[in-house]
Amino acid sequence: MKNEKYWETWSDEQLHSFQKEFIVWYEKEKRNLPWRVNLDPYRIWISEIMLQQTRVDTVIDYYYRFMEWFPTIQDLAEAPDDKLLKAWEGLGYYSRARNLKVAAQQIVTEFNGQMPQTIEEIRQLKGIGPYTAGAIGSIAFQLPEPAIDGNVMRVVSRLFEISDDIAKASSRKVFEEAMYKIIDKERPGDFNQAMMDLGSAICTPTSPKCEECPIQSYCLSYKNNTMTNFPVKSKKLKPKDVYYIGGIIENKQQEFLLEQRESKGLLANMWLFPIEEVSKERFEFLQKMWVKEDQQLSFDFEEPLLVAEENPAIFEKYSQVVWQKRTLGEVTHIFSHLKWHVLVFYGRQTGLTALEENQEWATKEAFSSYVFPKPQQKMLDLYNKEFKTKE
Ligand code: ADE
Repeated sequence: MKNEKYWETWSDEQLHSFQKEFIVWYEKEKRNLPWRVNLDPYRIWISEIMLQQTRVDTVIDYYYRFMEWFPTIQDLAEAPDDKLLKAWEGLGYYSRARNLKVAAQQIVTEFNGQMPQTIEEIRQLKGIGPYTAGAIGSIAFQLPEPAIDGNVMRVVSRLFEISDDIAKASSRKVFEEAMYKIIDKERPGDFNQAMMDLGSAICTPTSPKCEECPIQSYCLSYKNNTMTNFPVKSKKLKPKDVYYIGGIIENKQQEFLLEQRESKGLLANMWLFPIEEVSKERFEFLQKMWVKEDQQLSFDFEEPLLVAEENPAIFEKYSQVVWQKRTLGEVTHIFSHLKWHVLVFYGRQTGLTALEENQEWATKEAFSSYVFPKPQQKMLDLYNKEFKTKE
């Protein structure tokens, strides 16, 4: 029968045995994670923000360092922006870090420095939506609130054969309703985390390991062998392609030209080799014209290898640079709604050019004091590969 709310058919007995078996499984199998060592709401908050868009394995090292640098809410509220961004370097979705600081300041000024303890108040903090509020509320304060993310929706959609499209915001309601019914009100934090662990280790997207599942006997889609039909998820829009020429420019002191981005927008305040947006046609033209040839680069400044003829703007702009007439390769990087394509060129600065306000020369040794986003790291990897230098 379609659209039946199967959780409504569960008896109290069934519900209790489900909760009990699930929690027993969690106690036995739960992963030993650094944010699970105590119930400090600050620690839980930071972990949940990091885990929003990033995998557990990646988060762990960032988490330890973040806690070391900013051990209390007060420290976070007073964090220097560059240190905060450095702590987040490589994690992506940098607005998360900026929002954390704003929320920490809210806690200091509006909540007396203590993490608020009701869902409504937690929701008032910058960067905290229903998922994070539910996670913090249930784990740190034992509030019987669900924490519904993509993993949990997958588990619940299979458990009850819920066919609402999980990509639609309006579907959230039905998952909430199911979760409010089944959540263990005595141990909501453990219950939510059991859901997360089950979703990441067993009830996986493509080949769920149903044989190992602790709640298999309650699962409607297991019974009907329909696991792979759930969850129902409409396709996301493809990210928009944007094209850039990237220039790795080195001077005679073996310093590299870096440019800081504006303080607003994507990758705000972060540093990159100079890049310049070009049309798709231009990009493809340069890609074809200047294919990566199997040739060695000369280190001799006095005898430049090749000088550009088909100049894109970036080559005109840096006229004191002798460009190598081939690419170091291409870098692609997907942000949530954009896909960057960067065709990377290498050039040597021969004369002197005045720096713009947002530019600096930096040696490789100094790179660690700058905050680099992922595409910058990827461009640097191309350079290192080309010149076989070690990090
Ligand atoms: N993903 C999001 N929150 C998590 C948590 N508390 N434990 C494990 N994985 C998670």
